[in-house]
Amino acid sequence: MKNAIEEKILACREEEWAIVTGDGFRLHVDPNEGNGISFAESVAVTLGEKPRWLHCRWLYDEIGSDFYQRITEQPEYYLTRVEDRILADNAAELRRVVGDATIVELGSGSSTKTRRILEAWLDAGDACYVPIDISLSALEQACGDLAAAYPDLVVEGLAAEYDRGLRLIGGISPLLLLFLGSTIGNFNDDEMDEFLRAVQDALNPGDRFLLGLDLIKEAEVLNAAYNDAAGWTERFMINLLARMNRELGTCIPLDSVTYDGYYNEERERVEMYLRFAADVDVRVAKDGPPLVIRAGESVMVEISRKFRVDAMVAKLADFGFALERVFTDPDEFFAVLLLTRER
Ligand code: AVI
Repeated sequence: MKNAIEEKILACREEEWAIVTGDGFRLHVDPNEGNGISFAESVAVTLGEKPRWLHCRWLYDEIGSDFYQRITEQPEYYLTRVEDRILADNAAELRRVVGDATIVELGSGSSTKTRRILEAWLDAGDACYVPIDISLSALEQACGDLAAAYPDLVVEGLAAEYDRGLRLIGGISPLLLLFLGSTIGNFNDDEMDEFLRAVQDALNPGDRFLLGLDLIKEAEVLNAAYNDAAGWTERFMINLLARMNRELGTCIPLDSVTYDGYYNEERERVEMYLRFAADVDVRVAKDGPPLVIRAGESVMVEISRKFRVDAMVAKLADFGFALERVFTDPDEFFAVLLLTRER
């Protein structure tokens, strides 16, 4: 039997999405998955630009996702721990303010931190959860775990890119959209505006948006967080080149590349680079044009912006969001903003 949330998702679809049913959950799988720019095309384009760069979305293959999980467990990487504490301390208050809304999460991954929120919802009554993630296997794992842990939770996931998933949630109001982990900090200016516009369009007046933001702080703390002593950040970054060798047939000698990540105070962001110590031909297709990265050159792989609450609140107002609450930790390392989509 279809539940009310499934009916509403189905009503917003323009084409046929596959349905995957698991024990206690259901997933809607985007038929257009993979129709965006391919890994090979993206790499060939961005490595050919000056300055050279790689898009951080490609960091997250199975091995990279595993490395990222390890980063979140490192003592220097405070972001995950501090945000989790903020959510744990404020989930009941959040439920009281937001009321009985469906919880939708963008980039849900393992849904670990979300449990704080789901538990507060279940303590107060019914709860419906709509995780959106590009990785079907991650969704299956996370939804299976959640369904087993919370038999009363309705779980209706979407395996899709953010923009495609957002198009399907318009009928679900009232909803609370989660975008946690300060993942918004990995967007460049254009991507951030495009993302906020898509969220603005997807939500109806009165819907809520819960946004995790890593705040500006001393450079030493940030530099340590992105240079963990155990070396997981370095492995995470170098894996992108290893992935190119695995999937695109490049022959990049990984021992000629080092990771360099540091906080750029002027631009208020951590910048992550791969530096080449030798000339390397990284042509993507066998018959493709040569693409030589010279010794001494570097390739930007990721940025991680750090935020000021006031400036971000002003930006969000331009996209129709009004601030309702700011939840933070005693050191003000991290903030979780609760916003309302205005009329
Ligand atoms: C996913 N994102 C919020 C992480 C960050 O902190 O910007 C990605 C990351 N890159 C290196 N370490 C963590």
